[in-house]
Amino acid sequence: MTSDTPTPWSVNLITLMPEMYPGPLSHSIVGDALARGLWSLSLTNLREFGIGKHQQVDDTPYGGGAGMVIKPEVMDAAIAHARAQTPGAQLIHLSPRGEPLKQHHLIEFAAAPLMLMCSRYEGVDQRVLDAHNVREISLGDFVITGGDLAAMTIIDGCVRLLPGVLGDAASVAEESFGLHEDYQHLLEYPIYTKPAEWQGMRVPDVLISGHHANIDRWRREQAEAITKARRPDLWARYLVRSAGAISSH
Ligand SMILES: C[S@@+](CC[C@H](N)C(=O)[O-])C[C@H]1O[C@@H](n2cnc3c(N)ncnc32)[C@H](O)[C@@H]1O
Repeated sequence: MTSDTPTPWSVNLITLMPEMYPGPLSHSIVGDALARGLWSLSLTNLREFGIGKHQQVDDTPYGGGAGMVIKPEVMDAAIAHARAQTPGAQLIHLSPRGEPLKQHHLIEFAAAPLMLMCSRYEGVDQRVLDAHNVREISLGDFVITGGDLAAMTIIDGCVRLLPGVLGDAASVAEESFGLHEDYQHLLEYPIYTKPAEWQGMRVPDVLISGHHANIDRWRREQAEAITKARRPDLWARYLVRSAGAISSH
């Protein structure tokens, strides 16, 4: 690496399933970026901090109830280990109780080193979350068996934002939830490729016209129509932003 090369984005992941990695993260654009050294992944195996001969990491919940809870001292030791490996990283716990993951989180997380805590079972003892003032992020309003797939989703979404990862930065700007101010809060417009006619369906003429202003207008109108029909919450935010943009001119 030369002095001009930016420091790679680094992620440290605390997990009970280290054998899952890099897994899907070693493929395609994200895997290519890993191989090119644009980001790095280190794993902290929670089991190694387990207690006793059986390296116990969990115990039954106080107050009763189903399932097991990850012990605070075990997770605490894993956090200390991960922190030493990735100094200055923001610590995130993947949890259905967290802030629902949005594109703005990915933009924030891709800008600095990250430590991701993946729980299993019923989750982790609250005291370790409080002691480390851990921020929680949720993939959505549903429950999966562990934080690893959520962590991989975050990593994938961050890596494609890193400089040099995607060939065409415009694709990030104009896609759904894109960075381009015209497309913030809008879902993506319909996209087409060759052939121009397939099963009797033609690509909209405007896209073949070569008239870039008309293409831009058509895409914008389509993005607005799709967002209005499918996501009233985003549409309302888009209208507020558009009204602000008009009044500031
Ligand atoms: C079976 S879940 C535990 C669910 C927890 N008892 C609850 O009701 O919120 C086990 C772990 O999977 C991860 N997980 C499950 N659903 C998730 C989601 N929607 N977003 C992020 N992580 C999730 C978390 O790390 C969680 O601690």
